[in-house]
Amino acid sequence: MTTGQLAGKRVIVTGAASGIGRAIAALFEAEDAVVARFDRDADGLEAAGAKGAAFTVDQTDPHAVYEGVEQAVRGLGGLDALINAAGIADDNPTETISLERWNKVLAVNLTGPFLLCQAALPHLRKSTVPSIVNIASGSGILPSGAGTAYAASKAGVLMLTKSLAAEWGPDIRVNAICPGTVDTNMLNGLFEKDDAFYERIRKAYALQRMGKAEEIAQAALFLASEKASFITGISLAVDGGRTYH
Ligand SMILES: NC(=O)c1ccc[n+]([C@@H]2O[C@H](COP(=O)([O-])OP(=O)(O)OC[C@H]3O[C@@H](n4cnc5c(N)ncnc54)[C@H](O)[C@@H]3O)[C@@H](O)[C@H]2O)c1
Repeated sequence: MTTGQLAGKRVIVTGAASGIGRAIAALFEAEDAVVARFDRDADGLEAAGAKGAAFTVDQTDPHAVYEGVEQAVRGLGGLDALINAAGIADDNPTETISLERWNKVLAVNLTGPFLLCQAALPHLRKSTVPSIVNIASGSGILPSGAGTAYAASKAGVLMLTKSLAAEWGPDIRVNAICPGTVDTNMLNGLFEKDDAFYERIRKAYALQRMGKAEEIAQAALFLASEKASFITGISLAVDGGRTYH
């Protein structure tokens, strides 16, 4: 059941072509927000069947990010919230990861959200209820022993979040969500979803299962809504009890 919690809110959601970003954009629209969807995947944006505007933006390209944000904000008539959900996974061992790949993971997962925050800032400053929600990862709190570039990029997102909460407070609330394993396209190519995979999940997670994109979207809704009006700089673990941080 939806409750119009975001009535009239103007929102940019990145990574909106798939998985968690897609679920956030859909839930926010159901809660009566007006959403501009960003992603590098034009086909995925189209398939998401968006009501609002969609922008094909590769967030490693600063020019595209700034142009996209300016255009989106013109269309929305302002900006109240930015949700940074785009990201890429990586499980290369540190011993063999190329510098090019390391730089790419950092560029998408950490520098991308920074660019979006910077581009959004002048517009968020004009809002009466501005907030940012960054989708980090449980790997940024408690690494699993694989994917150090990814874990480092997500730990960076957590500190980006805390530091911006301090730098841009009291005007703008900035929070992060740390999802546990969520069943999205991101898992393809990373894991075989075999018995051993589900057994590892059962052992590592108190709730003994993966999360759903919609469960992460509910946390984003809370943090972006006025129900979270006294919350800033936090990392909210939505991870079925993997990290207990
Ligand atoms: N799925 C999980 O288990 C999990 C766990 C913890 C954190 N996360 C984080 O949640 C976020 C969403 O992941 P997901 O599971 O929905 O994955 P996903 O692969 O389903 O979606 C990620 C989206 O980001 C987009 N994207 C990738 N690189 C981009 C770029 N350079 N510019 C613009 N868009 C780009 C992709 O096109 C895709 O639509 C990511 O930041 C991810 O790191 C996911």
